[in-house]
Amino acid sequence: MYDRNWAKTDAEKLPVIKTELPGPNSIEIHSRASKNMKGYSSQVKLFPVAFESGNGCTLTDVDGNVFIDFSSGIYVTGLGHCHPKISEEIAKYARQLMNCHDFNTETKMKLLEKLASITMGDLNGIQLYDSGTTAVEAGLRCARAATGKFEFVSFWRDFHGKTMGAASCAIVNQSQGMRAPGFFLAPRPNCYRCPFKMKHPECNCYCADFLEQVIINETSGQLAAVVLEPIQGWGGSIIPPDDFMPRLKNLCDKYNMLLFTDEVLTCMGRTGKMFCMEHWDITPDITTLGKGFGNGFPVTAMCVSDKYKESVENISASSSYGGNPMACAAALASIEVIEEENLCEKSAHLGDVFIERMNKMKEEHAIIGDVRGKGCLLAMELVKDRNTKEPFEEAGKLVYQKAFSKGLTWVPAGHILRISPPIIMEDDMALKGLDIIEEAVSEVEKELGYAL
Ligand SMILES: Cc1ncc(COP(=O)(O)O)c(C=O)c1O
Repeated sequence: MYDRNWAKTDAEKLPVIKTELPGPNSIEIHSRASKNMKGYSSQVKLFPVAFESGNGCTLTDVDGNVFIDFSSGIYVTGLGHCHPKISEEIAKYARQLMNCHDFNTETKMKLLEKLASITMGDLNGIQLYDSGTTAVEAGLRCARAATGKFEFVSFWRDFHGKTMGAASCAIVNQSQGMRAPGFFLAPRPNCYRCPFKMKHPECNCYCADFLEQVIINETSGQLAAVVLEPIQGWGGSIIPPDDFMPRLKNLCDKYNMLLFTDEVLTCMGRTGKMFCMEHWDITPDITTLGKGFGNGFPVTAMCVSDKYKESVENISASSSYGGNPMACAAALASIEVIEEENLCEKSAHLGDVFIERMNKMKEEHAIIGDVRGKGCLLAMELVKDRNTKEPFEEAGKLVYQKAFSKGLTWVPAGHILRISPPIIMEDDMALKGLDIIEEAVSEVEKELGYAL
């Protein structure tokens, strides 16, 4: 049994900034590492600190500066950095057995039973992987095997990973120019920036009508599945209107295609439910889980409904690291922690605290065009003008950097400020972090001449 207060800290005393940021040790490590390391994320490029440790909702860098964490790694450590129960379980298997290919262990058996019992409906055909993108690849192969069809339709600005099939389901950086044949994209509902310049609910969810036109006019009747993030994560916490999912499910039934929800980012309480699709009570045929699934240990899953689960036998599903003993221990412990500490409810509550404070901020700051979120999957969108909604990229970059230099780690995405705190965060720490963001927004507005 671990101390339930293990992550509690006095928010008043945070963050602890001892040096200019990035500090001297960070600068040295980053410059030496960068001689060899290429391809950093924009997060690192914009603020190259080097970290030494994490505890609960804080991160400490190599200069001893302590940051409030609004990023959870990258939507990963939802239960806090180095949760004692999870770290202990991983350490136990690091000493006992690290790899035995996909042979069973007792912990794996328990994880499979637990997962089958908590997922929606009958998603009982499970395979385990070590990254989100490999789980998505397996899901795509499985949809083909289950239906005998080969085409997929997915959505603008969704993200599914960086291997060929997963990247072919998206329009993101490196996937441009390398989409495999048989992959089609449709506009996705984004009511703040409607792709059809309509208004919900008067639009009657025209995105669903348009999707049907894509299915009819672009594909060759060989659609295996529609693939989507239930809430768009990387794209900026974009939540579909409530009538979209039922319409989508009807289209799946009408055109005999599987519903494949990629919950790599949205699972494990991130949105205030264990799985995001619970918000609409719609069970997919295939789903993928990752990120928070192992709370930092690389473990992911593909889950297939009973009706199609035998097709997993036909896709050469196993892998070198998938379901290794440490991974299973991390995932099982993570699920148990969420259940034992009622963390889905906690996530929903914390999300409300964020939204209330962010809405107040919006009243005070002209460049905040939209605030939104479900549970702890949150975002603020910066605009040059609230009427035209012109994205304010420069402000996004500056607010990110300024808040980071004041002691907040978080995730930039151009003009959209993405916020994904550990779901265990206490309200006072959340409010402290939001104060830092507000300070940064005020400074940037003044600098760029946009103050109200
Ligand atoms: C929805 C979704 N699917 C898949 C992936 C890919 O996961 P990974 O980076 O573990 O390969 C991501 C990563 O951000 C994601 O957000």
